[in-house]
Amino acid sequence: MPINEAFAQRLYPALPDIVATYGTPFHIYDARGITATYREMTRAFGAEPFRQYFAVKALPNPNILSLLVAVGSGLDCASAVELELADRVGAKGDGIVFTSNNTAEPEYDLARKYGALVTLDDRAFFRKTTVLPDVVAFRMMAHGAAAGSVLMGDATQTKFGVPVDELVDVYREARRRGATRFGIHGMTCANELDLKRAVRAAVDVIETAARVAAAGFRLEYINVGGGLGIPYRPEDRPLDFAAYAEAIIAARRRLFPDDGPRILMECGRYVTGPHGVLVTTVINRGRKGREFAGLDASMSALMRPGFYGAYHHLTLPFAADRPLTTVDVVGSLCENMDKFAIDRPLPDPREGDIAVIHDTGAHSHAMGFTYNGRLRPAELMLTSDDDVVEIRRAERIDDYLATVRWQPRRVLSGVRDGSFPRNTDAASEGVRSMEFRNAIEAAFDRRAELADPELSALAPLVRSGLAALDRGELRAASPAGGSWVVDTFVKKLILLSFLTHRNVVAEAGPGRPKSYDKVPLKFEDWDQQDFLSARVRAVPGAVVRYGAYIAPGAVLMPSFVNVGAYVGPGTMIDTWATVGSCAQVGSHCHISGGAGLGGVLEPIGDDPVIIEDNVFVGARSEIAEGVRVRRGAVIGMGVYLGGSTPIVDRATGEVRYGDVPEDAVVIAGARGDARRPELSTYAAVIVKYADERTRAKTSLTDLVRD
Ligand SMILES: Cc1ncc(COP(=O)(O)O)c(C=O)c1O
Repeated sequence: MPINEAFAQRLYPALPDIVATYGTPFHIYDARGITATYREMTRAFGAEPFRQYFAVKALPNPNILSLLVAVGSGLDCASAVELELADRVGAKGDGIVFTSNNTAEPEYDLARKYGALVTLDDRAFFRKTTVLPDVVAFRMMAHGAAAGSVLMGDATQTKFGVPVDELVDVYREARRRGATRFGIHGMTCANELDLKRAVRAAVDVIETAARVAAAGFRLEYINVGGGLGIPYRPEDRPLDFAAYAEAIIAARRRLFPDDGPRILMECGRYVTGPHGVLVTTVINRGRKGREFAGLDASMSALMRPGFYGAYHHLTLPFAADRPLTTVDVVGSLCENMDKFAIDRPLPDPREGDIAVIHDTGAHSHAMGFTYNGRLRPAELMLTSDDDVVEIRRAERIDDYLATVRWQPRRVLSGVRDGSFPRNTDAASEGVRSMEFRNAIEAAFDRRAELADPELSALAPLVRSGLAALDRGELRAASPAGGSWVVDTFVKKLILLSFLTHRNVVAEAGPGRPKSYDKVPLKFEDWDQQDFLSARVRAVPGAVVRYGAYIAPGAVLMPSFVNVGAYVGPGTMIDTWATVGSCAQVGSHCHISGGAGLGGVLEPIGDDPVIIEDNVFVGARSEIAEGVRVRRGAVIGMGVYLGGSTPIVDRATGEVRYGDVPEDAVVIAGARGDARRPELSTYAAVIVKYADERTRAKTSLTDLVRD
């Protein structure tokens, strides 16, 4: 059906500008229309106990879901991913319905953990688990006159639900297993526009519910599913929802005269379907026996017409005055079914025309796929104050390749030698992408509220971040034009990893005592080849945690290098030195015995310690609290440098904090206290500057000699 007047009036005047700058194709959804339809549905039920749960599968964009949740809608999920989505947009507890089929046990677990109302599709559930949902609801199988449609398939071959004549029996079995609270589900139509048939389907569910109730099961709710149709064709008339609601209310009162179960619905298409269009451009016009117009979109953007011959109205809103021609409107897939319309009379299309495909607000973008490398288009939203916002960008080649293992991951050999799945993070492409960062940042912000399922789902993402740190591709601070850019994100990633990863026992191995920790050791899985290609020497007793980077040519004496640290090429970490979390050490440095470079994870506010190239840090010195030691500096023995340590230049008397200048030679000292002459306090003193040539000629002992 042509786009509704209100949507068209707000969209069309802006469309040429949007298309000229933003390009096509894109779906665009009308926020105002979507919430208006939701409200119309709840209004029709008045004070009756009723709740509509939007079927996430129809339009799983979090921005749309949030919009609906904000006006009171529940969400109907059919998979673990949809449950996560629902959780992320703030749907909680019985604000979520989980109706799936052929379901794996972990998905039920997740639904139960979120407190969702769970619909059980078959009795196989009993074999898999002893833990029942709080409220046990079975989906009844479509049957008899109420069943059957192109989308649902023939009722005799349906895969959904429990056969009606077995229903009472499965409820009895549930009770035997301890269930005390019950509901029922039935979705027996799809894209149903005929009021009588829609009512017959819903009333059939209510009547079946009454039979279950008569067998002694008090039902708390009847979920009549989704499946209400929208007028895709211009000649179709919209379903009279008010009349539909009235019929349901009447049936409920008739069959449950004393305070019966509440009514739930899981409509998707009806809520968002008419409030979206796919905006495309005609890129080819020609004749190959048949007239055709080729669009810049394919089935990847909308597969309903090609997939099951569904009709979608199509218009050229800015060419309406041209004479009509009958054309096939096609996409670019190497599949003949990739056609949006066949033999469609249209104002004679020309290349460059804007072509609008209507009613793509449900089961459209969501069904897209990427065959032929034809990627899914963007999703925009016309907001209620008439701005247009991007709510999903168009896919790019990075998305298409996001799951590829550029470095193939060892599976069979890994399983056999026990290293699988530790090397799951072999590829961390994408860790620099905004999506990756946003996901980690968002999770970090909500870290106090993250529940177990969400933490488990986050773990692979966090692991890929740690892998990037481990390979030195991600750094807590990076040199940039003579200065350093600190990436606080890294700290959040590491802190989040302490939540997503649990302590595990690592058995004692050669040269390694038993441990109990969340962070594995960097060299745990390394073999001769790994060390050879990394060109790292690690003397027994060198403990390096996974997520620290050690550059080629580095030598690690028995020392400790913490997660997020970076040790540059040719650097020596001497005996009992510690390199704290996220500390950055440049190339050809010498961190002497027992010296310490502080970590930054706690307190969380600090910047990492930065030791630039060619720095010498004397034995037992400590550099902490984000102090930066610039290239070529020499720090004597036992020098303590924190953020508040005065660093006094003996020649000029200048005092600085947190920053040791290039080539400065610094020793431990003291300075008089202005208020108490008898007292002196600790200071680090720059006694001279020694460039590389001088240092090459002079022994370190001579250099730091006063
Ligand atoms: C169980 C269930 N609930 C709800 C829906 C939503 O259907 P519609 O978008 O047609 O309302 C579907 C669609 O596949 C479904 O399978």
